[in-house]
Parts: sequence; C-alpha cells; structure tokens
Amino acid sequence: SRAWRGLIEEYRDRLPVSSTTPVVTLLEGGTPLVPARRVSELVGCEVHLKVEGLNPTGSFKDRGMTMAISKAVEEGAQAVICASTGNTSASAAAYATRAGLTCAVLVPRGKIAMGKLAQALVHGAKLLQVEGSFDDCLEMTKKLAENYPIALVNSVNPYRLQGQKTAAFEIVDALGDAPDVHCIPVGNAGNISAYWMGYQEYAADGLASKRPRMLGFQASGAAPIVNGAPVTHPHTIATAIRIGNPASWRLATAARDESGGDIQAVTDRQIAAAYKLLAQGEGVFVELASAASVAGLLQAHEQGLINPGERIVCTVTGNGLKDPDWAISGAPAPVTIPIDVYAAAAALELS
Ligand code: F0G
Repeated sequence: SRAWRGLIEEYRDRLPVSSTTPVVTLLEGGTPLVPARRVSELVGCEVHLKVEGLNPTGSFKDRGMTMAISKAVEEGAQAVICASTGNTSASAAAYATRAGLTCAVLVPRGKIAMGKLAQALVHGAKLLQVEGSFDDCLEMTKKLAENYPIALVNSVNPYRLQGQKTAAFEIVDALGDAPDVHCIPVGNAGNISAYWMGYQEYAADGLASKRPRMLGFQASGAAPIVNGAPVTHPHTIATAIRIGNPASWRLATAARDESGGDIQAVTDRQIAAAYKLLAQGEGVFVELASAASVAGLLQAHEQGLINPGERIVCTVTGNGLKDPDWAISGAPAPVTIPIDVYAAAAALELS
C-alpha cells in the first residue's frame, strides 16, 4: 500500500480536472469506515460509520472544497465566498488560504458551533455574522457572487458535489460492493445528492452490483423536504442542518425516489440520543447534525424499512470537537480534588 494522495489524485479519472488543473489539497478523503457494533446489534444488521469528521478540517466539506478551490484557481479567481452553518466556512477558509485566495463567509449570527467559528477566524477568513438564517445568508451570497468578482463555493457550485461523490466510491472500494442502505443527514441537501451520483456512477461502470436505498434525515424543526414546503424559521439543536430552503432540494428528492429510499424527519431528542449512543456505545465523537443519520436508521428500523442482515452505511458528517459546548453541557461536571491519591481513589469509588 502507498500513502493516500487526496481525493483528486485518487479519483482523478472520475473528476472534472485536467493535467493543468492546480490541485489544492489537504489530503482529504480516505476516511475510515468503522464497524458500529452497538448500532448493528440494535437493528440486526451490519452497520458501518463513514467517519467524515476525520477529514482535514473535521467535516465532509473538504471533499467538495478541494474541487471547488482547485477549479476556482484554475479559472483565475482571486476571492471566494460562501454562506454556511459553520463547516463549509471552516473548509473554505482553510483551502482558500492554502491557495492564496481571499475568503469571505456569511454565517447566521449565534447559530454556529464555536469550533467552526474558530476555524474560519484562524484561517483568516473575512467573517460576517448575519442577523438572519442560513437561507438568508445563501441568498445574499448568491447575489454577491453575481454582482462582484468573487467565486461562489457553496454546493450550488457543481464542483462541490463532484468532490463529495468520492465518499461513495470509497465505501464501495472498502466493502467490495455498494451497501443495501445508506443513511445520511440532510441540510442543504448537497451531500445526499453527491453520494447518489457516486453510487450511480460506480454501478453504471460495473464497479458495484447494486445501488443503495438512500435514507436522508432532516431535523423535525427544519424539515422542508419532508413537509414539502420551505420552513421560514427553522429550529433545531443540530445547527449544521438548521436550513429551511435547501439548494439541492430537487436533486435530493430524485436521489430518494430513484433509489427507492426516503427522506424523513427526526426530532432533536432522537438526535441527542443518537449522539450519546455514538459517543458512549461506539467511541465515535460526532457533532449533533451527524447523529441524525443514526437516529434516522433507528427510526427506519422501527418502521420496518430495514431488512434483517442488510449492510448499512451511516455517514457521520462532522467531528464532535466542533461543538465542545454541547458535549460539556450534557455531561456530568468534573470533580475537583486536592493533590491526594486517597481523595482520587475515593472520588473514583475505587476500593
Ligand atoms: N452534517 C454536517 C455536519 C453539516 O455541516 C452539513 C451541512 C450537513 C450534515 C448537511 O449536508 O447540506 O449537504 O445536506 N452543512 C453546511 C455548512 C450547510 O454550511 O456547513 P448537506
């Protein structure tokens, strides 16, 4: 085996790049597909977690960003802009700075996790906190990119989904075939669309014998696709997917329908329970939005949508370290002791 070269080099022949495209990479992709023993037991299936929080900036956004930024440089851009619930801005900031581009980001004020804010700032992005929602930020960003010399790197940029489809390739490469079911959180709806593109492409080229049923999960307070109408004031603890009018709405419903899958809502309570299950039952620390895939799998299992023994992949999209506030607030307060072994033993209830 040899060292991972980043997803553009690994999948060059399946991506819209040429020999002259300047590849901007942090060696993203190649993330682990971790067997989930506890979740597998709960649903009577073989469940794997695609741990996207192990990408360079801690989320799956790096897959799209290596493509979007490489193409922006190829096309002569000097500056890029995105709207974000946090992860896209963190990724854009890192890849833009690596490419020597200026990066501007618009985020909903007070609605992004602290780690993500830190990332955008440390990489030197120009960060604007908008007194509105992600959807407001995206509308503004599109208008700015239309009227000023600044390239849009949200997932409406087609290169983003091209990069993100490689996660499906990696899963098939690791398992030797496509899974039966793929569970994934849905926010702006780009990622479910990208995975579906990837699975379709591999099946069409004979690299997989089947395509999975795509099961997408929105938070119940931010579930426009499930409701069939935009949500004006989306709300959920999973701020990454607090989105009321997804850009890739139609691609996502096509993925759902063509795959024989479903897009459902899960409550904040279910999301929080799945977050805890992953942290304490699997040893995998994800952010809240990421836990929607596992919350959704448990729900689909209860609804009888999952057949015993099926092979299932849940994408867990972002790293739990992004949002330490949530992790700490849900845990027991640490005990403080003096420099005393007996005090430590007593506090640990050792005997
Ligand atoms: N999970 C995480 C951790 C995310 O950050 C996002 C989207 C999603 C899931 C949903 O993916 O939008 O492709 O359906 N975050 C975007 C952002 C909106 O700005 O970081 P999607």
